[in-house]
Amino acid sequence: MASVIDRYGVMGYPVSHSRSPVIHRLFALQTGQNIQYELLQVAPEKLDNAVAQFQRTGGKGLNITVPHKTEVLRLADQLSERAHVAGAVNTLMFRDGSVFGDNTDGIGLLRDLTGNLGIDLRGSHILVLGAGGATRGIVGPLLESKPASLCIANRTLTKARELAEQFASAGPVSAYRFTEIPTSAHFSLIINATSAGLGGETPPYPASAVSEGCVCYDLSYGLTPTPFSRWAAQQGAGRSVMGWGMLVEQAAESFHLWRGVRPDTAAVLKQISVSAS
Ligand code: ATR
Repeated sequence: MASVIDRYGVMGYPVSHSRSPVIHRLFALQTGQNIQYELLQVAPEKLDNAVAQFQRTGGKGLNITVPHKTEVLRLADQLSERAHVAGAVNTLMFRDGSVFGDNTDGIGLLRDLTGNLGIDLRGSHILVLGAGGATRGIVGPLLESKPASLCIANRTLTKARELAEQFASAGPVSAYRFTEIPTSAHFSLIINATSAGLGGETPPYPASAVSEGCVCYDLSYGLTPTPFSRWAAQQGAGRSVMGWGMLVEQAAESFHLWRGVRPDTAAVLKQISVSAS
């Protein structure tokens, strides 16, 4: 009897640039899982129908990417705690007619920082630039690693304040404008979670926050350095890293949720990134 191929995919708009199909195919090869993984370009107004159709036709799970991560929340029958806190879903699992929504972005970042890059976050001083959806997804997991402080800096102060208030009970979190970040703070880690780089822009990032011992991490990634990673290197950051590792680690968490098997991420990270640091 021919074995059944389980169907997965990534939905986004646009989505043609997504590396998820390659990553999941490499995971499947490596772990001997019989899956098919599709690239699904779905416009915002077609999202509900597309998800329902994928489920109806036997699909087992989806990754959800920009711009659907928030909208797709309401299509889940059940949400993981971390998806609920993040206010966003990047992974759907279809089982027994029901839809489970999860968010593996935050844990993916943590695994890259602590596992792949060997950064000890306990007692550290962290600066997160940006206060949009990407920041909302990572603040909870970062605070769970018990930093001494976590500053959120944003062009629009009110948005940084709102996030700091939301997470106040989870740890020492504060909010600033880019220009008002305390210079006395010696940040061990600066994370760029703005979407500024997508337009090739370099916002007025706080140069005085960067020191020699500081790791600068851009959630964005590219085959050539992103504007933030170039800027960080110019400011003399100890290390300037793009988010390839987070991309692979969040994918591995989704794969584990769907298949119950944990792939070896190091091998896949090497294959998909030309230069991650
Ligand atoms: P995402 O889901 O990628 O986080 P988002 O929710 O639209 O997208 O948030 C984008 C973030 O990037 C915000 O923090 C935004 O700053 P504002 O809140 O002030 O809008 C930030 N951002 C985008 N373009 C920027 C730019 N040119 N300079 C500075 N910050 C920028």
